[in-house]
Amino acid sequence: MLLNKHIIVGICGGIASYKAVELVSRLQQAGAVVDVIMTEHAEDFVRPLTFSTMSHRPVYSDLWEPSGQAAERHIALAEIAEALVIVPATANTIAKLAHGMADNMVTAVALATKAPLLLAPAMYKEMYMHPATQANLALLRERGAVVVEPEVGRLASGAFGPGRLPETSVLLGAISMLLGRKGDLAGRKVVVTAGGTQEPIDPVRYIGNRSSGKMGYALAMEARDRGAHVTLISGPVALPAPYGVEVHPVMTALQMRDAVYNAIRNADALVMSAAVADFRPLEAAAHKIKKGQGEFAGMPRAAGQAERDADGFPLYLTHNPDILGGLAAQLGQPEGGIQLQRRLIRVGFAAETDDVLAHAQSKLVAKQLDLLIANDVSRSDSGFGADTNKVFIFHANGAVEDLPVMPKTEVATAIWDRVVSLLGMA
Ligand code: PMT
Repeated sequence: MLLNKHIIVGICGGIASYKAVELVSRLQQAGAVVDVIMTEHAEDFVRPLTFSTMSHRPVYSDLWEPSGQAAERHIALAEIAEALVIVPATANTIAKLAHGMADNMVTAVALATKAPLLLAPAMYKEMYMHPATQANLALLRERGAVVVEPEVGRLASGAFGPGRLPETSVLLGAISMLLGRKGDLAGRKVVVTAGGTQEPIDPVRYIGNRSSGKMGYALAMEARDRGAHVTLISGPVALPAPYGVEVHPVMTALQMRDAVYNAIRNADALVMSAAVADFRPLEAAAHKIKKGQGEFAGMPRAAGQAERDADGFPLYLTHNPDILGGLAAQLGQPEGGIQLQRRLIRVGFAAETDDVLAHAQSKLVAKQLDLLIANDVSRSDSGFGADTNKVFIFHANGAVEDLPVMPKTEVATAIWDRVVSLLGMA
């Protein structure tokens, strides 16, 4: 998404400007062409040399230097920019932008460019919450600017409140989303599931699996960066919520089923990469099962007729519903089933350890899917927890594609490419 994109990063005079150094570096590493422009006071916090070292390009700040080249430069930058990102945006610069002022390099480029504008305000909490700043931000939003809300936390002054610049990963997500908002999924609603479900045994123990959520989160972010409205239904994972994605956290398969069936009603595509537990304890114990406990502790007595032996106790499991399979059955019903507003493209995953192709093919048919992504989870470079995946893509028309090992971000790109062409046919 960021590769070869021409991004202008405007730096204002705030203490958070040092954090913009990492942003510029990460944008440059992602393949973007980054031109940094600075206000005069930004240079009091970070020297231009720091930014030019990170961007590998000259930095522009003095609009009034005598040769007039900088003045010409601001027009050239304004014309070439694909996005203007102001990080940190101070109350002073926000006010100037709201009122159309152009008295320095940053405000002059902002006024001269037609590129989309992203502002990441960072300042003392009272300045941020001041009605003047809020009114200026509202005006800028009305004109189409994207404002990445500051985080609440400890500020440079020592005070606690809103005003902290968000993490670089959040800013990168916001920039990618901005650049992709007219992408090939613009106007589409998609639902993605990620992570593994956890089925409680008692309040402290559960049955789970090794899904990290990486595959599903990559799918959600790729769809976002192609313009989709993304609902991400996620089991418990250690990943941060992606910027601009509507995240619904769930714990169990039953919760995931309800969240999925609710979210798909007006969606164009459902991609289920979550590892859903096929079984759950018949009954979760209300209290922690103690080591020496001599009874079935929460396990239903009717089912637990077997004697607990000295070394353990039986754990009774029952089937969880098949979310994707159940959907296929419900969609066929004229009454009582799920009523969809549009044709829903359905994509499933198959986590296999043996006979991958045969198992995957039968899941595609049984769950009536448009696509099934099969991964061999016995490989170390594929499946659970890995950053890469080795997948086969099974199509409903019988075609099978064998993709090489790729980063999960690229697997996500390949999957949405196929979904986009199916949407085109729908
Ligand atoms: O999260 P990562 O660490 O990145 O790992 C990614 C992954 C290995 C979890 C992912 O690539 C993957 O393979 N996900 C599907 C895992 C799985 O549950 O496979 P399955 O063969 O058991 O299920 C087939 C399909 O039916 C899946 O789309 C699954 O979401 C769905 N399913 C399964 C069980 C169930 N009760 N309801 C379902 O809808």
